[in-house]
Amino acid sequence: MAKRSSFVVVANRLPVDRVTTEAGQEWRPSPGGLVTALHPVLAKQRGTWVGWAGGTGEAPEPFELEGIHLHPVPLDADDLERYYEGQSNATIWPLYHDAVETPVYRRRWRESYREVNARFATAVDKVAEQGATVWVQDYQLQLVPAMLRERRPDLRIGFFLHIPFPPIELFMQMPGRAEILRGLLGADLVGFQQRLAAQNFVRLARHLLGLRYQGNTIKVDDRTVKAGAFPISIDVEEMEKLAATASVQARAKQIRAELGDPETVVLGVDRLDYTKGIEQRFKAFRELLSEGRLSVPQAVMVQVATPSRERVEHYQTLRVRVEREVGRINGEFGRVGVPAVHYLHQSYSRTELAALYCAADVMMVTPLRDGMNLVAKEYIAARADAGGALVLSEFAGAATELRQAFLCNPYDPEAVKETMLRAITVAPSEAKRRIKVMQRHLRNHDVDRWARSFLDELGGA
Ligand code: ADP
Ligand code: G6P
Repeated sequence: MAKRSSFVVVANRLPVDRVTTEAGQEWRPSPGGLVTALHPVLAKQRGTWVGWAGGTGEAPEPFELEGIHLHPVPLDADDLERYYEGQSNATIWPLYHDAVETPVYRRRWRESYREVNARFATAVDKVAEQGATVWVQDYQLQLVPAMLRERRPDLRIGFFLHIPFPPIELFMQMPGRAEILRGLLGADLVGFQQRLAAQNFVRLARHLLGLRYQGNTIKVDDRTVKAGAFPISIDVEEMEKLAATASVQARAKQIRAELGDPETVVLGVDRLDYTKGIEQRFKAFRELLSEGRLSVPQAVMVQVATPSRERVEHYQTLRVRVEREVGRINGEFGRVGVPAVHYLHQSYSRTELAALYCAADVMMVTPLRDGMNLVAKEYIAARADAGGALVLSEFAGAATELRQAFLCNPYDPEAVKETMLRAITVAPSEAKRRIKVMQRHLRNHDVDRWARSFLDELGGA
């Protein structure tokens, strides 16, 4: 009999990922912003987290991790290909990110998405106490709220979308679109990163299903469904403390020394994803070098690109393009022992990331579209010295809050170049002023506040 809980979070991924290596199996922290944000919330609430443990085959038995009860859901090789790589990451992910890559539509993927969503709903049904609060996460599980409501009308169901929600014209492309919308409308509260996304959602409910709404409340049969904006954040205190430790500070100095003590270290940290605008920032850096407005070794760039969704074609072609560009820049502007771009296709510990943030003069966060972007917030929180400068795309959710960043349009190469130069040459006093304003904002808007405001609203829904 599964352990029952009054608070259940369900996400495609668990906070840890089971990886098979030559040495056997090991657990690693799962990649991405969803886990970064939710892990500290769940550790405090001591609830149950239902999700996939990585890999295919039988799921591990439920287990405890830092006070969280983890309840694994299995995926087999077909599910991985159709539900995860297909429908979730080659259909919905690009469509919801402004179709910056062309979404691929396949009937088999949709069927698999439905089957796997039903499996997650069944797992939640098993672990949720009578009257429990269930919080469903992200685009992989959009059918779960309605599936759960049908089985368990006693539950209070929230849904939060970590990525953008597209305007009606784009959403209408999706085959099976009404099923997705009805799936979401199974929740009592549907949360988004941005106000505009919540508006897209309520308007879509009227457009596609003829539902009536007032403000952000939609009438669905004899129920009401609320939509709202709840911009997600990070555990600010944790990052501040980590970055201030002597070992991180020493490592930051060491990183700069290893880079040859350049005047300017420019940093990018992303999953290797086509939404992140990695190519756009390389292009800006290359053109600034070739125009002689920057030069190596005075300026160097470090790009950490975490491996992600490596079997999906869009990601494979992106990797080829990115690595070709790195080769091109280093070929033209590097010297023996002095590359212009340090490219790291690897995962790092939070300690090493914090040290990289502290070592960077300019942080480049230039997504073509991003629900929030937690890297931007981590960089600001890490800078106890109030040093550094953040270049931030207008198309990241974070730009709504971090107004003192150097904002730019990543689609405009000249704008990226000019903004990068402004961030490199800003007077230290002005840079400090900007960082401090953003730090104050983040301290008042951390991930705890995000979770509390969503769950309070859900409680009252
Ligand atoms: P996304 O959720 O799309 O990946 P975010 O910027 O919101 O983007 O969140 C990314 C999270 O993953 C951050 O918490 C960041 O610190 C972490 N991260 C990014 N790159 C790495 C890496 N190479 N190693 C470890 N963690 C990483
Ligand atoms: C983003 C998504 C998450 C996802 C993460 C990592 O943050 O919003 O739902 O877990 O990327 O992607 P992956 O496909 O590896 O889970």
